[in-house]
Amino acid sequence: MTHVDPSNADSAAGWDGPSGDIWTDNADMFDAGVARYLQPFLDAAAIEPTSHVLDVGCGNGLVTREAARRASRGSVTGVDLSTRMLDLARRRAAQEGLANVRFLQADAQVADLGEARYDRIVSRNGVMFFGDPVAAFSNLARALAPGGRLVLLVWQTMADNPWFSAFRDAVAVGRDLPAPPPDGPGPFALGDPDRVRTLLTAAGFGEPDLRGVRERTYYGPDVDTAHRYISAMQHGLLSELDDAARAEAHATLRAELQEHHGPDGVTYPSAMWIVTARRMADPDDHSSPNGGA
Ligand SMILES: C[S@@+](CC[C@H](N)C(=O)[O-])C[C@H]1O[C@@H](n2cnc3c(N)ncnc32)[C@H](O)[C@@H]1O
Repeated sequence: MTHVDPSNADSAAGWDGPSGDIWTDNADMFDAGVARYLQPFLDAAAIEPTSHVLDVGCGNGLVTREAARRASRGSVTGVDLSTRMLDLARRRAAQEGLANVRFLQADAQVADLGEARYDRIVSRNGVMFFGDPVAAFSNLARALAPGGRLVLLVWQTMADNPWFSAFRDAVAVGRDLPAPPPDGPGPFALGDPDRVRTLLTAAGFGEPDLRGVRERTYYGPDVDTAHRYISAMQHGLLSELDDAARAEAHATLRAELQEHHGPDGVTYPSAMWIVTARRMADPDDHSSPNGGA
């Protein structure tokens, strides 16, 4: 692993450790879970055949591969902290015969990503974990050509995403589990539109556009599959319980998932933002929102 900023050390230990294992072992489930968001996100990215694209927090690389197919005469770089996810991403890109793609293990907050090297920076749920988001987005702005487009898919607030508290509460068994902070780092760090605007403009982007999208997230065709999957996601919290409490947590989780089982499998309402912003030609000029190429 290259240099990780101290503000991201805990995050890197998780993503290049137990969380990375869970994400690698359940790669297809994670992709299926948010599949309904993929097309609107890729439409917003508007990747062209000659685009040079950076995928931040690329994980197992589904978005990287989609970008590589679109940028057929350009290039795509995926950057992530997780050794195992990057290995899977490389294998899948090779299996699909994609030659215009590379993957780097690095902390996107501080890595040298080049100067004005990309005309698109995309991320599906990979930019909410930075310890110092202004530093991180400034680093991304440097890597983006003036007028280049940043396109992010991020969760809206925890209140807009009831799946999160449903799964956490199901395995709580009397524990008072802390909610992820709304100002991050964590899944809901970019849920507040004002915070997104403040962070991105401070980092050298023009006034961002936030488009709300509401889709159902998917956890499997039946309760057994969903239960296995969510149990893997909640492994850390479940492992802290004694046997009796763990059995209670599993029973509560099953009942919760059963309530959300319908004709399309186990699904929950959810909400994300598609955030689009341009790198300012002159980082000190905030007067021309979303101008440029
Ligand atoms: C929720 S996962 C999303 C993965 C992938 N974008 C997807 O949609 O499947 C978040 C990813 O962000 C990566 N990540 C978190 N902080 C990062 C950082 N500072 N630099 C690079 N990647 C980071 C994690 O390793 C993880 O793979």
